[in-house]
Amino acid sequence: MGEFLATASVVTIVLSGLALVSGVFLIRSGRREAHMRAMLTATVLAVLFLVFYLSKVAIGYTKSWVGPAEWRTWYLVLLGSHTLLAAVNVPLALVALWYARKGLLAAGTLARVEQVPAAAAAFARHRAWVRWTVPVWLYVAVTGWIIYVVLERYGAVR
Ligand code: HEM
Repeated sequence: MGEFLATASVVTIVLSGLALVSGVFLIRSGRREAHMRAMLTATVLAVLFLVFYLSKVAIGYTKSWVGPAEWRTWYLVLLGSHTLLAAVNVPLALVALWYARKGLLAAGTLARVEQVPAAAAAFARHRAWVRWTVPVWLYVAVTGWIIYVVLERYGAVR
């Protein structure tokens, strides 16, 4: 069960990162509807990641570092920054989503954002927040995968 939850959590966070990157490319090419769908998919996958990850912790399945002692500090820095930023990403994503929802409700449709000042203002805030959300989210996804791979080689269940 623990091994299943560990694999499920790494698969969902990596897929979430891929959906996030496609969402960024989609908005850069002006495809707002597709951007919204990609980002909502990334959010659902990130929620699933948290569910799998916290279930793994709840059943007490953790792997400890049993690799070379001189690499242990680097591993702990990686694990610590990943865990801290995974927690920070939750409010960042919620605020980004909240401004997007506010803007969409004000405009009625994503095609009318520029015509409705309240919607334009909400999406300006959205853009300001995602400047932080996207890099933090990507860091969590990439380091989640790295930690999983490293622990396959240098980790042991205690
Ligand atoms: C947490 C999830 C989301 C993230 C991380 C995200 C990320 C981004 C990024 C990176 C940009 C481009 C910013 C720039 O070029 O400066 C953007 C713009 C935009 N996003 Fe999102 N987004 C998310 C959810 C949504 C949702 C759910 C909607 C629709 C309701 C949406 C609608 C838009 C629109 C309309 C823009 C263009 C704003 C403008 O050009 O004024 N986003 N978003």
